[in-house]
Amino acid sequence: MAPRTMVAGNWKMNLGPAEAADFARDLTLPPSIRSEVALFPPALSLAALREELGEGPEVALGVQNVHWETSGAYTGELSVAMAAEAGATFVLVGHSERRHIFGEDDDDASRKVEAVLRGGLTPVLCVGETLEERKRGELSGVILRQLEAVLASGEVEDRITTEARLVVAYEPVWAIGTGETATPADASEAHRILRERLVSRLGDTVGQGVPILYGGSVKPDNAGDLLSAPDVNGVLVGGASLDPTSFARIVAQGG
Ligand code: PGA
Repeated sequence: MAPRTMVAGNWKMNLGPAEAADFARDLTLPPSIRSEVALFPPALSLAALREELGEGPEVALGVQNVHWETSGAYTGELSVAMAAEAGATFVLVGHSERRHIFGEDDDDASRKVEAVLRGGLTPVLCVGETLEERKRGELSGVILRQLEAVLASGEVEDRITTEARLVVAYEPVWAIGTGETATPADASEAHRILRERLVSRLGDTVGQGVPILYGGSVKPDNAGDLLSAPDVNGVLVGGASLDPTSFARIVAQGG
């Protein structure tokens, strides 16, 4: 069965606690939305955002990164339990900015997904090719390698085939923050490749149930076409999620 549509906003290093509270006050979501809505503020803004949004289940929160250890001498890092205590239910893992600016690799992503699942939260695993990789015809090789690095963990496979959830986000690196959007057909092509692998590795029921989001310059004007593209189960929005009106317009298009 196709998963429920998900619309998620990744604020990156934007909107501190006071601005996050303002965002929540100004956010008016359409009544009776069927989509799952999630926001990924900077971790320091999470509590303020949660408080201002209220306790309703309407908007779930997540953090943009965690460390795989549970505690210890890891200056600057956050644990999964801390994120959960602050109100997060989702964690972004392997975002292209983590991979390309901070040098995270597939092993890091795998350890983080394991830790997130172990801590009872839902990982949103980001995969995507660079422009050079795409030009060399490596789209499927790259995104399947990034997905497989995580599915290869027996612990991950066990957990997501029994109790836990996984979300995958396809975010072509050349479309992130560039204004360059993949066409709905580009998104569908990559999502189909990922879906086939999820089904072959996890079986039909679990594999079909993993939401695959598209991310990369999603805006109110292109969200509708992307959300209705075959095999696209939602969107992960960066820049356009910083403004409550534009985020709400995108959520409205998720149905
Ligand atoms: P963008 O970012 O919408 O600003 O391109 C997307 C993302 O990195 O998640």
